[in-house]
Amino acid sequence: MTDLASPRPTPQRPYVAVPVATPAAVSPNAAPVTVGAERIAVHHLDAFYGATRSVRDVNIAFHDGTVTAIIGPSGCGKSTLLRCLNRMHETIPGARTEGEVLLDGHDIYARGANPIQVRRRIGMVFQRPTPFPTMSIRDNVAAGFKGLGGDVPSRRELDEIVERSLQRAALWDEVKDRLKDSAIGLSGGQQQRLCIARALATNPRVLLLDEPTASLDPISTQRVEELVYELRGSVTVVIVTHNMQQAARVSNRTAFMLAGELVEVAPTSALFTTPKDPRTEAYITGRFG
Ligand SMILES: Nc1ncnc2c1ncn2[C@@H]1O[C@H](COP(=O)(O)OP(=O)(O)OP(=O)(O)O)[C@@H](O)[C@H]1O
Ligand SMILES: [Mg+2]
Repeated sequence: MTDLASPRPTPQRPYVAVPVATPAAVSPNAAPVTVGAERIAVHHLDAFYGATRSVRDVNIAFHDGTVTAIIGPSGCGKSTLLRCLNRMHETIPGARTEGEVLLDGHDIYARGANPIQVRRRIGMVFQRPTPFPTMSIRDNVAAGFKGLGGDVPSRRELDEIVERSLQRAALWDEVKDRLKDSAIGLSGGQQQRLCIARALATNPRVLLLDEPTASLDPISTQRVEELVYELRGSVTVVIVTHNMQQAARVSNRTAFMLAGELVEVAPTSALFTTPKDPRTEAYITGRFG
């Protein structure tokens, strides 16, 4: 249990706060790309709602040490793809997937794979903060350890995990004196960092973020962006965003989706300056979407 929630230290350049109006192509955070081992590999992934195929034959890999942004117009399948990466898609009635998603070479959809364990390894944070309203700040962070049978850490270990996770989520200093207070007493930005801390507590290999700053003010947005940027050394991050400047600020690879298909994935600076597909160029120059 000792390695739970302990980040692997990786030297990093500090996050550079860039004004929102800065053109994506000149963001200092967009380059260079240092691609590590392949963490998640997606092969011929289709996602259905009933008979409707909303994700179409997607092939993509997510590597250690990288933040991958997924961009594309509303309804193109970004959230659906993200939910397929940790088996959340199948929780929607009538929804199913075809194809393969490998985490460290193991198919998360294999017969016998446990979706709860998959979600502890591949954490997710949504557009609106989703703290458990009846739980304290501490218990929210520790919530991922409930119902694990024999694998539950002791109370002291849990306290350590809670502190480490809150520190990694850049929230510890703000809440350390009120850990027993209700989580709904926190601001929206704090609640979102709490949800990130909760996702980090089980020491996931991968963190999926679906428009995590969409409901936040600019200061909270910047804090979450800084956090995402800093996390890249210890967790593989995939972030869906509508904001191309945000993609440029926090990611080093960007994927562009359209009508359920993955059109193009490239180093962020390359995708925004020299897209290979005319549809990508049309989107990033604002000609549609
Ligand atoms: N629960 C659902 N039931 C049926 N269809 C759905 C469901 N959720 C999404 N869809 C459909 O799947 C397609 C992709 O939706 P998805 O939410 O993945 O898009 P998105 O790119 O995340 O859009 P946005 O940017 O608006 O969040 C859309 O056509 C949408 O209507
Ligand atoms: Mg979405």
